[in-house]
Amino acid sequence: MNINLISDTVTKPTPGMLKAMMTAEVGDDVFKADPSVNALEKKVAEMFGKEAALYFPSGSMTNQTAIKLHTNPGDQLICDKYAHVYNYEGGGASFNSGVSCKLVDGHRGMMTAEQVEAAINPPDFYHSPLTSLVCIENTTNKGGGACWDFEELKKIKAVCEKHNLGYHLDGARLWNALVVKKNRPNSTENCSTLSASV
Ligand SMILES: Cc1ncc(COP(=O)(O)O)c(C=O)c1O
Repeated sequence: MNINLISDTVTKPTPGMLKAMMTAEVGDDVFKADPSVNALEKKVAEMFGKEAALYFPSGSMTNQTAIKLHTNPGDQLICDKYAHVYNYEGGGASFNSGVSCKLVDGHRGMMTAEQVEAAINPPDFYHSPLTSLVCIENTTNKGGGACWDFEELKKIKAVCEKHNLGYHLDGARLWNALVVKKNRPNSTENCSTLSASV
């Protein structure tokens, strides 16, 4: 067997996945007539306690759309120095939304709520870009698959509410985080390693 660990994106569908694709009920998503997409959106909205969910075919597209929705041109978002939205995605945050990124020196791609609050620009100082969004990533890509402590995520949410900021989760590997936290609730270890052992 040939095992390529360069990225999880090089994996190929299993026979079971291919069968599911071939036998899936399909329809025109533009008219909300794709039963599989509708079922997925409903399930995810219920899982996360949201009014609705929207399926996007790629993580970058999801992030870029979220940044656009949460910001206005000239604004600034806060993210860890390792964030995918800053390091990758072809500078899309600046091109698509006209925003800059304030980088936080976190640990393995994870910031503390105190660091986030300290990175907010004073809203009444018009020389600085207006801070309007906080972006986090779970698990972290460049941080080597580290999982956030859920309590810290809640503290950051409180900071966002206090300062009226949007809060976006890049959940490209959220399922990995959920599996690990279910099995080892206090772990902030590397999910890639852990998910192999759960
Ligand atoms: C944290 C994170 N966000 C976004 C993406 C982009 O996902 P996609 O390749 O589906 O655009 C990746 C891809 O590996 C990622 O690791």
